[in-house]
Amino acid sequence: MCDAQGRSIHQFHKDPERIRNIFRALTTGTTRERSTELVLGGVTFALSFTPISSAEGKVLAFHASLRAFPVTSIRAAVASGAAVVAH
Ligand code: HEM
Repeated sequence: MCDAQGRSIHQFHKDPERIRNIFRALTTGTTRERSTELVLGGVTFALSFTPISSAEGKVLAFHASLRAFPVTSIRAAVASGAAVVAH
């Protein structure tokens, strides 16, 4: 992780071609947003990826969003009957 700067993000992805296909779909507009969940260390995170485009509509980059709270905890709270409000 300490030598991440200047290197491809795909050093972290076990199947880079699968990730590239997701980016292709976001670039061509086949999908506008990719949302999924990722389990890391027993905690489930909500992920969202969207393209960032120029005024001319050219895709410049991709925005990755990792929800700051563990979804697992929210699910457990909902399952136990608690009212959960997302901000
Ligand atoms: C510190 C940097 C990063 C780490 C450690 C990381 C790690 C991971 C891991 C563990 C996965 C799960 C599946 C797999 O391994 O292929 C994943 C999926 C993914 N990552 Fe990353 N990633 C990083 C940066 C990024 C960035 C900067 C982007 C895009 C802007 C990105 C886009 C994606 C996408 C699109 C997926 C697939 C999600 C899905 O299945 O829908 N990643 N990443």
